[in-house]
Amino acid sequence: MSERKKVTLPILFKKMNEGEPITWLTCYDYPTAYFQEEAGVDMILVGDSLGMTMLGYDSTLPVTMNDMIRHTQAVRRGAPNVFLIGDMPYMSYQPSDETAVLNAGRFMAEAACDAIKLEGGAEMAGRMRAISDAGILAFGHLGLTPQSASALGGFRLQGKGALQAKKILDDARALEAAGAVGILLELVPDRLCKLITERSQGTMIMSLGSGPDAHGQLLIYHDLFGLYPKFTPRMAKVYGNAGEVILNGLKQYVMEVNDKSFPEKQNYFGMKDEEYEDLLAMVQKEQGPF
Ligand code: KIV
Repeated sequence: MSERKKVTLPILFKKMNEGEPITWLTCYDYPTAYFQEEAGVDMILVGDSLGMTMLGYDSTLPVTMNDMIRHTQAVRRGAPNVFLIGDMPYMSYQPSDETAVLNAGRFMAEAACDAIKLEGGAEMAGRMRAISDAGILAFGHLGLTPQSASALGGFRLQGKGALQAKKILDDARALEAAGAVGILLELVPDRLCKLITERSQGTMIMSLGSGPDAHGQLLIYHDLFGLYPKFTPRMAKVYGNAGEVILNGLKQYVMEVNDKSFPEKQNYFGMKDEEYEDLLAMVQKEQGPF
């Protein structure tokens, strides 16, 4: 395990103020968290996208707080020093301020998170304020917000037109005023992202498919390595095809077991002749010859 210093909010703000980009990835399990920590990733989001990437649902909507807590705990064990953000799943914050604060608190108390993230703009400013007032760091999420994908017309660019772009800008302002420490802009045009970043009053603006002019970048881990079999979004960059490596390995394993070339000598253990003789003698005494 690396001797890395804990990534804290002041460290992230220092990077931001010095124009050094912040790196952010999703992660859902212990071994991947270990690798991300080793690679020096600043922030990890345990996204409710785990509903699709890990649990095989068609959307994020069925994901529960218990699902989120279990995966976030595993990630924290693998990456003790990253800035860890728990994603509030569907209906864990929408019903009331009290529900929102209690569930945000679960991420902090049960999974050692540094912050939480919730989706929505001005309509969620009250929830953002309640969570911040409870002393919990909170990130907003604007643009394409998967929990409302059907209301937004599917997984598509948001804020293409001036009116819709202005609404996203106003939403960012509302979240900032409500105490958001950061805002993720997912799939909005690059110039809108730049404008919001330039106008931010100290809130960390992060881009997911929204261009380079933000304080940092987020990608979905599974998209980086071809690990989500259903699709790879156009905005993702594929850094290696681990999915293909795994599939080829699995096919070879099946073939080798079938043709009996696996296992080989080094894949199993023997026992001494005299021990085996004694074993046979014991078995024969008990049951008679085979
Ligand atoms: O759940 C998630 O991974 C997210 C990303 C799409 C930003 O919220």
